[in-house]
Amino acid sequence: RRATRIQHLAQMKAEGRKWAMLTCYDYSTAARFDEAGIPVLLVGDSGANTVYGYDTTIPITLDEMIPLIRAVVRGAPHALVVADLPFGSYEAGPQQALESSVRYFKETGAHAVKLEGGERVADQIAALSAAGIPVMAHIGFTPQSVNGLGGYRVQGRGDGADQLIADAIAVQEAGAFAVVMEMVPAELAAQITRKLTIPTVGIGAGNETDAQVLVWQDMAGLTSGKTAKFVKRFAAIGDELRDAAATYADEVARGTFPGPEHGY
Ligand code: KIV
Ligand code: NA
Repeated sequence: RRATRIQHLAQMKAEGRKWAMLTCYDYSTAARFDEAGIPVLLVGDSGANTVYGYDTTIPITLDEMIPLIRAVVRGAPHALVVADLPFGSYEAGPQQALESSVRYFKETGAHAVKLEGGERVADQIAALSAAGIPVMAHIGFTPQSVNGLGGYRVQGRGDGADQLIADAIAVQEAGAFAVVMEMVPAELAAQITRKLTIPTVGIGAGNETDAQVLVWQDMAGLTSGKTAKFVKRFAAIGDELRDAAATYADEVARGTFPGPEHGY
């Protein structure tokens, strides 16, 4: 099986073939997703929530992201590994974006970086692209700006539609190889997908984007509590894991594990 690289994603758009991206934060999970043939793994700054337990993605740092990215690169020999730039690591300008991304490339083996924003980060995207660092953009609802956006809400409604279209065009023209669109009306996401030559990756953006992405713990049912409307649970890993742990503890308490077959 061939390794996925950015030109394969462009090729799939040309052929009208949809693909799936998942987030990933560790070696064991990366190996399973690679076996499953997931072509693109995103080491999301959602690791702030899923790995570190922060309430938002705002606190996570480059130093907290780097070990996760390294682990995913080692676990997934075929996937294209995209590394999310955290809040505070690129907003100051192209120079800061370059320094952060160079750290990722030198220290982790990631194949691409991702950052949030449209027109406002076009200069960063252009500088990274010129340096040979492929960039995935992220527009619509951008969680690092949750305070500025006034909460977790759909973007691109009403007057926001023109801004979203302008953002999509700006990131493409700046050289992004793909763009995530989060929490955007399906019809607007479809319109942008037809307009752009680069692949669009939807999350809460309907069924007509070129690709889809979910946080893996949401996808597999490990996330506890209520999840967003756009999430579908494809398994109940959380229940299974809790039950396995409880059964193990119970067997230890009752003295039935380990059995003779587990001993030397
Ligand atoms: O960090 C993340 O998980 C993301 C995806 C949801 C696109 O940015
Ligand atoms: Na993210």
